[in-house]
Amino acid sequence: MEICVGAPRHTSPRRHHRARIAHRASRPWALDTRVVMAMAMTMATAATAATARARGDGRAPQDALAKKSRTSLGRRCTVARAASSANNAKGKLERIDGLLSRCGYCARSEVKGFLRAHEVVALEAPVTSASAKARAEDVCIDGQPLDNPNGVLVVMNKPSGLVCSHDAREGANVYALLPERWRARKPSVETVGRLDKDTTGLLLFTDVGALNHTLTSPKKDIGKWYRVRVDKEIPQACVEVFASGTLTLEGETKACKPARCEILGPYEARLELTEGKYHQVKRMFAFFDCTVIELHRESFGVLNLGSLKPGEYTTLPLDFDFAA
Ligand code: URA
Repeated sequence: MEICVGAPRHTSPRRHHRARIAHRASRPWALDTRVVMAMAMTMATAATAATARARGDGRAPQDALAKKSRTSLGRRCTVARAASSANNAKGKLERIDGLLSRCGYCARSEVKGFLRAHEVVALEAPVTSASAKARAEDVCIDGQPLDNPNGVLVVMNKPSGLVCSHDAREGANVYALLPERWRARKPSVETVGRLDKDTTGLLLFTDVGALNHTLTSPKKDIGKWYRVRVDKEIPQACVEVFASGTLTLEGETKACKPARCEILGPYEARLELTEGKYHQVKRMFAFFDCTVIELHRESFGVLNLGSLKPGEYTTLPLDFDFAA
């Protein structure tokens, strides 16, 4: 397992004691049932509408969930600033070749062939020329509306053994689990931060750069909870040290932001981070000579995995409010 060495031991326990524990607004971890339900509903409808379409197989991974509810969708979604910089201003006229290649249907050079092979209509009028202009929301392909023309936001339950990198030399990656059409989108769909190859759990993807930036910014203070299993007994002191905001990891100039830690058992804990330094959880526990042997991200803000099984994913509205 690739583990980075922890911070040097020069940060003495006494110093930690003296360190003022930075105060931060407490955001309750436990999701209230309504939030989970809202999440389930959001995921459900998004799944039926987009994932099935994008997969081209007519089935979303969350079909059962989808049937459950079609009500009060998006109630908890407020318009996030980043969502306003989605990939296409609503209502804008666009060339059909640009639109189709942007949404991953085909390369620009293949548009003529695509138009011959598929029924593409704009406001019910057939589109036969690559240079024709239309509004994304008016376009249908083989009877289906365009696949998320303003961008996608996807949540996946990442299985172990896949890297969050496009570099084939690093091995099999999480992108391979996404539909081909999403992988062909421009701008490209990217993970929101990264999870290590052996880490499992909640992983987000988006092709909206501004949204990606917002969600990864430590300034946004979005808490992500990790469940950790280590090889040695977890010292109680780590709760205070992690919360203190004084722990500086090796090679870093800035201390880790205060992080809540709950010890669940001798070898198990939950840790909430509001930032994403390289191998951060593993390096924080390595400071206490604990090697992380299992790491699972349980949640991202108010979002948890619901019933998503490893390898499954679904879409979320671009304005999903993670801080709700
Ligand atoms: N911290 C880690 O050490 N690894 C991850 O994958 C995520 C957070």
